[in-house]
Amino acid sequence: MEPAAATMLSGRRALPILLAVFALLAAAVTVSARGGAERAPTLVFILAGQSNMGGRGGATSGNRWDGVVPPECAPSPRTLRLSPSLRWEEAREPLHAGVDAGNVVGVGPGMPFAHALLRSPACPRGAVVGLVPCAQGGTPIANWSRGTEMYERMVARARVAGAGTGRVAALLWFQGEADTMRREDALAYAGRMEAFVRDVRRDLALPNLLVIQVRSSVSTPLIFPL
Ligand SMILES: *[C@@H]1O[C@H](CO)[C@@H](O)[C@H](O)[C@H]1NC(C)=O
Repeated sequence: MEPAAATMLSGRRALPILLAVFALLAAAVTVSARGGAERAPTLVFILAGQSNMGGRGGATSGNRWDGVVPPECAPSPRTLRLSPSLRWEEAREPLHAGVDAGNVVGVGPGMPFAHALLRSPACPRGAVVGLVPCAQGGTPIANWSRGTEMYERMVARARVAGAGTGRVAALLWFQGEADTMRREDALAYAGRMEAFVRDVRRDLALPNLLVIQVRSSVSTPLIFPL
């Protein structure tokens, strides 16, 4: 994966805001999985973007994932993923298996994010994280405008994920390299990103949905800064 600098769409203090969101959500946490039956998340995160989010760790040489799961990507009973067939299951790498179609997927940022969250003192007690993988390798932001396959798939998955005991806490967006190859794409990026966020917030009826945007460092040959 490319080194990345975390930035945020509206302001640069993503973590404090995220922690504030947890505080707000604490009151809404419901005890799920009574009797150990089907578990359900309490905090839901949408994971979208291109390969950096889809996950290529251990999958960049040869034609298969090497199967190595670093400790920060290990499964945990408190981290679920929404499967391609829209069911909650224990999250395991590769998180985007069956979602990031046509690509060799490996480990990505989703699991370390969930672990960090659950370790945070601000995380509500008993929280169960629900990850909703939606990324697709190589996609420019034009593939994510309202009405496109990627956008509609993401919104449909997010709606299912947010319909149960879990609240959609944030959208994690790790995308952009595909828009650094052509000058016109780079110049159009800010407007497209704004439209994307506006549309997602409206379609999910979450006008204050937190969006955490990660900016890729540019790759070669390059290119136009986003
Ligand atoms: C991205 O957009 C192009 C142009 O509309 C389209 O041909 C392609 O299928 C899209 N890719 C995905 C993954 O949606």
